[in-house]
Amino acid sequence: MRTPLLLFLCLSFLIIPIATQNYACHKGSSQFPFCNTSLSYEDRAKDLVSRLTLQEKVQQLVNAAAGISRLGVPAYEWWSEALHGVSNVGPGTRFNATVPGATSFPAVILSAASFNATLWYKMGQVVSNEARAMYNVGLAGLTYWSPNINVFRDPRWGRGQETPGEDPLVVSSYAVKYVRGLQEVGTDAGNSTGDRLKVSSCCKHYTAYDLDSWKGVDRFHFDAKVTKQDLEDTYQPPFKSCVAEGHVSSVMCSYNRVNGIPTCADPDLLKGVVRDQWDLDGYIVSDCDSVEVYYNSIKYTKTPEDAVALALKAGLNMNCGTYLGKYTENAVKLKKVDESTVNQALIYNYVVLMRLGFFDGDPKLLPFGNLGPSDVCTNDNQQLALDAAKQGIVLLENNGALPLSASKITKLAVIGPNANATKVMLSNYEGIPCRITSPLHGLQKYVSSVTYEPGCSNVKCGDESLIAKAAKAAATADAVVLVVGLDQSIEREGLDREKLALPGFQEKLVTQVTNASKGTVIIVIMAAGPIDISFAKNLSKIGGILWVGYPGQAGGDAIAQVIFGDYNPGGRSPFTWYPQEYADQVPMTDMNMRANSSRNFPGRTYRFYTGKTIYEFGHGLSYSTFSQFITSAPSTILIQQTSLTDPHSILSSNSTIQPNFVSNGEALDVSTINCKDLTILLVIGVSNKGPMDGSHVVLVFWKPPPILEKLSGAPIKQLIGFERVEVKAGKLELLAVKLNVCRDLSLVDSEGLRKLVIGEHTILVGSSNEQQVRHHINVRLEGTETAKAFV
Ligand SMILES: *[C@@H]1O[C@H](CO)[C@@H](O)[C@H](O)[C@H]1NC(C)=O
Ligand SMILES: *[C@@H]1O[C@H](CO)[C@@H](O)[C@H](O)[C@H]1NC(C)=O
Ligand SMILES: *[C@@H]1O[C@H](CO)[C@@H](O)[C@H](O)[C@H]1NC(C)=O
Ligand SMILES: *[C@@H]1O[C@H](CO)[C@@H](O)[C@H](O)[C@H]1NC(C)=O
Ligand SMILES: *[C@@H]1O[C@H](CO)[C@@H](O)[C@H](O)[C@H]1NC(C)=O
Ligand SMILES: *[C@@H]1O[C@H](CO)[C@@H](O)[C@H](O)[C@H]1NC(C)=O
Ligand SMILES: *[C@@H]1O[C@H](CO)[C@@H](O)[C@H](O)[C@H]1NC(C)=O
Ligand SMILES: *[C@@H]1O[C@H](CO)[C@@H](O)[C@H](O)[C@H]1NC(C)=O
Ligand SMILES: *[C@@H]1O[C@H](CO)[C@@H](O)[C@H](O)[C@H]1NC(C)=O
Repeated sequence: MRTPLLLFLCLSFLIIPIATQNYACHKGSSQFPFCNTSLSYEDRAKDLVSRLTLQEKVQQLVNAAAGISRLGVPAYEWWSEALHGVSNVGPGTRFNATVPGATSFPAVILSAASFNATLWYKMGQVVSNEARAMYNVGLAGLTYWSPNINVFRDPRWGRGQETPGEDPLVVSSYAVKYVRGLQEVGTDAGNSTGDRLKVSSCCKHYTAYDLDSWKGVDRFHFDAKVTKQDLEDTYQPPFKSCVAEGHVSSVMCSYNRVNGIPTCADPDLLKGVVRDQWDLDGYIVSDCDSVEVYYNSIKYTKTPEDAVALALKAGLNMNCGTYLGKYTENAVKLKKVDESTVNQALIYNYVVLMRLGFFDGDPKLLPFGNLGPSDVCTNDNQQLALDAAKQGIVLLENNGALPLSASKITKLAVIGPNANATKVMLSNYEGIPCRITSPLHGLQKYVSSVTYEPGCSNVKCGDESLIAKAAKAAATADAVVLVVGLDQSIEREGLDREKLALPGFQEKLVTQVTNASKGTVIIVIMAAGPIDISFAKNLSKIGGILWVGYPGQAGGDAIAQVIFGDYNPGGRSPFTWYPQEYADQVPMTDMNMRANSSRNFPGRTYRFYTGKTIYEFGHGLSYSTFSQFITSAPSTILIQQTSLTDPHSILSSNSTIQPNFVSNGEALDVSTINCKDLTILLVIGVSNKGPMDGSHVVLVFWKPPPILEKLSGAPIKQLIGFERVEVKAGKLELLAVKLNVCRDLSLVDSEGLRKLVIGEHTILVGSSNEQQVRHHINVRLEGTETAKAFV
């Protein structure tokens, strides 16, 4: 969301004084029906809009909404951010001595690695508490343009750090939980008070947006060519879940085009899908300033008036930036767009502010009115930031060296360009943290004699002059912790990577330090996207490797607690670790998920890519040993045949099903099945056979019937459920995973339609680095039970 243009915008906000009153309908102006809380939000919003002139209206369509002082409606800044903690990146929120900082959680990619949905919900609750507290003292807005729920499609994407990874289910689940944590007024799940909002959340960037700037292609000019199949089962699911299940109150359209049309100008994507199909109760906002971008950068329309008219007619309601404020009045006068369309946009926007209580008078007298500075950075909140970092950390390798025993180490060398990282740990869209503990500082709490050598002056590591000193420190230490990786100079918004290797001389640093070391070497990778570290797998003195993402304000303590065994790591990689050859072979601009041998395209993510990996999606070790097994699951599912169910082969679309048939890939369109009753329960046991208590992530995959291996486009496997469970050493825990046959055992065909295939489906529990369990489920049509063996 930040561009040079935007920097300019941000600066201009600094000189606009924030209105003294951060709410409407204070005593004295409360006689208007729009202030009357007995009326519906919609009626109140309509009343307000009916009182405005066209000129006043257009000034409310932008993030820096001017307000209408004659009606006691103050200016409102719509743009605030809270991706992983309240942030001052958006102009609606700032810190000062009254609230000097807020709890800074890890970058989303690391919290996602916890696979703990409860954690995601709790983080949302903490962030919304702190946001409300800051709003009450005039430091923050109520509308937050977070989270980023684009699927992390390509390992080079600079904004992968902001997302929950490459799997559509994990991203969807994260979106639902975090959004509900931010928005829900009720004290616990299921007790949300009507449609009131605690703070408003926004799922972005809709849709198929995941390229920033790569080899001369940038997001403003990029036209994402997306198949119906990929759109339906990869790019759209997080947004659909966010709206339909998470009840988010805003969606942001993106900068890029999808199949030729800028997303913010596409009536099918906005009005058709988000508003009508998914039933958004909220507003649609542009990225900053994506309407201007499609006029200026790609000349998508003839005039700026055409650009704003197109966006409003497509279903856009709010403009981050200034364009709608500048050109809508003229567009209406030129009859390019009806004033009624502007009215409708404003009504959607105002209903959200009303649900937030902005039109209910003094916020101190409203729910959450008692929150204040002492509710920000509380011990509990900061503990949750530490917990999130620990839960996410992934143990990639361990030859038995980890955990280190502090009592056996007299001298520890802490080495590497990220070894004393502070701000780097906060990732992007950060705020000011309550406090911050670097890895060096965290490790110093365990060992009194610590030597520190950066080894490289920064992560780019352009020269090798500091390596010898680092090697020397390693030669005299009992153990080495080597913290390597990336930072915002390598992967960030507006900058994608080209190489997957460690930058500059960092590989050499690792090799030389390892070779020189006296004791064991632990590698800590602080980076969001995957790194090709195959060279390190060959170095036998490396005792263990950890991936720590960008771990937030408590990152140093989290790393140290994992390394010294005060926390047993249980995180799993939320993405595939590709080798460098992958990046050499695959253009980032190719949006296809599915492999295509005719053009030597290997496919993307664990769902479609079968080539070499450094680590797979779901990889992650523990200090303990877990075994898992299925204790109960159905083996046959009977689908009732209705007159509507007319199965067709998904392989040859015109073959019809015969009695006593052998499944040849026959499939039912799920829209013709009564899906609601088709739920199945999987009971899974997890036992901890190792020496330490710990949390284990159960991953449940679906593998389609073998017949579909012939069909290009069926996933190799697909995550359909996950659960993180705590199991004490020597104990057993049971957990139930509820699946829906139509949703979880189906696949999307080339037309984008969801199909349930008749035949033998496989449930696979576990990723390939652990013991896996398989279970088969036959899906049959009722009346064909006596059919011959299914394929
Ligand atoms: C608010 O609206 C209700 C319902 O229409 C009405 O009965 C009441 O008089 C209104 N209150 C004010 C102060 O106008
Ligand atoms: C911080 O900003 C708020 C809102 O403008 C203001 O009320 C408060 O006095 C400021 N705090 C300090 C210490 O300046
Ligand atoms: C919902 O929460 C409110 C306050 O947060 C509480 O008063 C009420 O009893 C709760 N309702 C239910 C059904 O739990
Ligand atoms: C570690 O970083 C902090 C914050 O940037 C700095 O104050 C401190 O001096 C650094 N420590 C060392 C040993 O360089
Ligand atoms: C490893 O260190 C030894 C001396 O300790 C040196 O002779 C050798 O060249 C080093 N190997 C590498 C690969 O750096
Ligand atoms: C690792 O070692 C193997 C076997 O010695 C070798 O073939 C391979 O090239 C090495 N890989 C790297 C990345 O150094
Ligand atoms: C594979 O790529 C070729 C060349 O771009 C294209 O013509 C073909 O339709 C693709 N096949 C599939 C199944 O997408
Ligand atoms: C579909 O039906 C047509 C006409 O009956 C036939 O020519 C064609 O081969 C069939 N296609 C497949 C894939 O079976
Ligand atoms: C999930 O996260 C919550 C909140 O931090 C925590 O209390 C719980 O122990 C975690 N669950 C597991 C299994 O680790």
